[in-house]
Parts: sequence; C-alpha cells; structure tokens
Amino acid sequence: MTRPYYIAGNWKMHKTRSEAAELAKTLTARLKDGKHKYLVAPSFTSLETVGAIVKGSNILLGAQNMAAEEQGAHTGEVSVLQLKDLGVQVVILGHSERRHTYKEDDELINKKVHLALNHGLDVILCIGELLSEREAGQAEKVCETQTRKGLEGVSASGLERVTLAYEPVWAIGTGKTATPEDADTIHAYVRGVIARLYDASAAEKMIIQYGGSVKAENAAQLMAKENIDGALVGGASLKADTFVPIAMFG
Ligand code: PGA
Repeated sequence: MTRPYYIAGNWKMHKTRSEAAELAKTLTARLKDGKHKYLVAPSFTSLETVGAIVKGSNILLGAQNMAAEEQGAHTGEVSVLQLKDLGVQVVILGHSERRHTYKEDDELINKKVHLALNHGLDVILCIGELLSEREAGQAEKVCETQTRKGLEGVSASGLERVTLAYEPVWAIGTGKTATPEDADTIHAYVRGVIARLYDASAAEKMIIQYGGSVKAENAAQLMAKENIDGALVGGASLKADTFVPIAMFG
C-alpha cells in the first residue's frame, strides 16, 4: 500500500503571535496545492492565532505538548480540554526535548497518549535514541521500548490516530542527519514492532516520520526510503522559504 506523506513543522519556543501569524499565512498560501498531509505546531501562545489562519486549509493545527491530567492543580501546564477549545487537532507527545530536558518518562507519555486519544486528538508520538545509546548498539532496543511503552494499552482503533516520529536525539538541531539508510533501518524495525504488537496491516498503515535536521537538501532522499513516510521538522520549519521546499517535495 502507499502511505500518504505527512510533513509537520514544530516551531518549538519560537515566534510571537504576529510572527507566527505571518508564517502561517504564507504557508497556507504556498502549500494550498501541496499533495501531502501537513501540520504546524506553534507555541501554546500562538495556537489560537495560527488556528484561525489555517482553519479550512490543508494544514492541521498541532500542539507541542499537553498535560497528563484533564484538569486540576497543575501550575504551568496546559490541558487537553484547553487545546481542544482552541481547535487543536493533533498533539506531539514524547518529543526528545520533553523526555531529556524535562525528564518525561514513558509512563507519563503513555498517560498523555491515552488522554489525547480519548479526547479525540490525534497523536504524533516521538521516539529516538541518544548518541551514547546508538554507539552502544542500543538504538533499536531504545526505540522498541519507547514504542511499546508509549503505546501500552492503546487499541487497534486508537492506533489509527497515532503517527510515530523517529527522531534520533543526536540529529535534532545539530545539523547532523541520520543517513537515509540508517533512518530507514530503524523505521523498518519499528514497523516490525507495530506488527508484533498489533498486526501486519496496522504496521503497513503506520506513518513513521523522520525528524532531526531535515532540510530541503536531504528531505527527498530521506522520504524516498520505503519506510520513511514524512518529516517532523524543527529549525527548517521556522521560515517558509526553508519549509515549503520540504513540504512540496516530490
Ligand atoms: P530539527 O528539529 O529539525 O531542528 O533538528 C526536529 C525536531 O526536534 O522535531
């Protein structure tokens, strides 16, 4: 089967509302004839502004994180109900910056995955190994564990609303990209994990994005690989001139 390509921009902690609005307007115009699936994930503070601009376009509105509880005494957190209220359709969970800088573990991420799915949000679940883990020959094992634990208890129908993003930590924001072959090896391995956890058809349908220094110059080679179904783009998603060529590849 042919899986659709899914290209997402993670704006991280960048852009004021007016800057975000400007980029969103440009992307809405320049991607309108794009043939892939698109998403932008601005900061919480720009979600409403960007949501109003991308509404009705072919660009989905994503959040970069979400609390593990529906509501309550959680100073500084943002809830699933608040995201839905702003029109958010997708939430990125388990990003490596959340895992490593903010110490989110697989159990917490799994709780967030369930909460998001239960409330009708789609999920991009990020996985990926550290450089030390890769050097120790543990890349597959780490990705398998993060996939298994992140998806624990998720039903086959829930899984249909999950996208995986393989983002080797050593490639994020560093300018170092995994070679298309190395990335494809992990993607194929993770697809096998999905086949074992669910079944062959679920594995075949699973969209697995690659993330980590994706740019116009390497996007097409990465996505030409059999198991690479899109990209989760950080740095290069901050400007239309660098994101549009990635989004319009092929
Ligand atoms: P990068 O970030 O493209 O800047 O490496 C990717 C990501 O963290 O999603």
